[in-house]
Amino acid sequence: MPELDLHYLKNFISEEELSEAAPRAEKAAEVLFSKSGAGAEFTGFVSLPKGYDKEEFERIKAAAEKIRSQSEVLIVIGIGGSYLGARAVIELLTSPLRNRIKTDGPEIYFAGCNLSPDYMYELGEICKEKDFSVNVISKSGTTTEPAIAFRFFRKLLAEKYGREGARERIFCTTDRERGTLKALADSEGWETFVVPDDIGGRFSVLTPVGLLPIAAAGIDIDGLLAGAAAGAEEYSSGDFEKNAAIRYAAARNVLLEKGKTLELLVSYEPAFAQMAEWWKQLFGESEGKDGKGLFPCSAIFSTDLHSLGQFVQEGKRSLFETVVRFEKARHSFPVERDGENLDGLDFLAGMDLCEINEKARLGTLAAHTEGGVPNIVITVLEKSPYEIGKLIYFFEIAVSVSGYMLGVNPFNQPGVESYKKNMFALLGKPGYENMRAAIEAKLD
Ligand code: PA5
Repeated sequence: MPELDLHYLKNFISEEELSEAAPRAEKAAEVLFSKSGAGAEFTGFVSLPKGYDKEEFERIKAAAEKIRSQSEVLIVIGIGGSYLGARAVIELLTSPLRNRIKTDGPEIYFAGCNLSPDYMYELGEICKEKDFSVNVISKSGTTTEPAIAFRFFRKLLAEKYGREGARERIFCTTDRERGTLKALADSEGWETFVVPDDIGGRFSVLTPVGLLPIAAAGIDIDGLLAGAAAGAEEYSSGDFEKNAAIRYAAARNVLLEKGKTLELLVSYEPAFAQMAEWWKQLFGESEGKDGKGLFPCSAIFSTDLHSLGQFVQEGKRSLFETVVRFEKARHSFPVERDGENLDGLDFLAGMDLCEINEKARLGTLAAHTEGGVPNIVITVLEKSPYEIGKLIYFFEIAVSVSGYMLGVNPFNQPGVESYKKNMFALLGKPGYENMRAAIEAKLD
């Protein structure tokens, strides 16, 4: 697992259309695996599950243990690819309610991914009352949102523990040699971990970027990498029939050619919500360029069947769904018999919520395909580090092949810079003075 089921596309794309796309998909895979395409210098994630730095991996485990032993709270500072993967894996493999229930390890909060004064203030209040550590993650060290958050939290640490004490509680994940954060870490003596040069932010969850916070949450990172390594075996074939990641890439490209411009990633598991956020960056930032790409969006069903469901069933026929389903739940939760049956639910007595959830999925599948929404189904055995490591690898290969099929460089993100330049000019950052008047005129 994961298993890919393209069976429910049968009324939307023919076997012939998929077969016609197969050679293009195989060619794109060859370009990826031979490192001969655009952005090849950022494809280090392909060999990562086997070739990762073992010494650093052990340091990650030791740092995670230190964080766990000394902290009630861990603040993870980062934005985009520097935090989404960690948040996704932690929430999926522990619980979206993790900070509210008694769990293994510190409460974990994410900062530096927005500019909200209220959010920052509230996180600060949490830290005042509890022992905390900080993992700041920024390749460049100059990204405004995490840089502001880090300035705030390191001051808080210094006030609470003194400069020496703070040194034991700051963990930096940044460039190996360059950048503001690396320089700051070296001068202050903070422990550092490396964001590899050949792996872009959105592909970095299995590097120290994701692994340190994930390990601090008590998750088995050996299992995660073992799953990714199994993925590297399974998805390294350039053969369309043997490689589900290539088939998924091909199917979504055919759907796009047929006018399906939105891909709705669906799960019936609320713990998957942040995984969908990670997936949105992975696919949106890799494919959305040169006027091309599928718009990635997400929903949690059955929750969102009661908000987006109407549009999906009957709105503009521009979307298809990719449903990630989990075969097993961690807990059984049977509906109990109630003698009086005033709510009329006794027909469900003895049935597990897992089974009811599955019936909701099947009923929705029938309704949505009937309503003109193609469905791709990806089945994952369970929410375990191994299965999720493999799923992550599956999506990383799929999006790379898919991007090359589209004819874009899947590994750059030039469009992300535009807002930053404007924001810097409006904030009066030195060097951006000349742009300010032009931007203000545009906003008039
Ligand atoms: O995928 C990416 O490259 C981005 O999302 C970056 O990770 C994000 O912009 C943060 O950059 P940095 O790590 O330099 O602070």
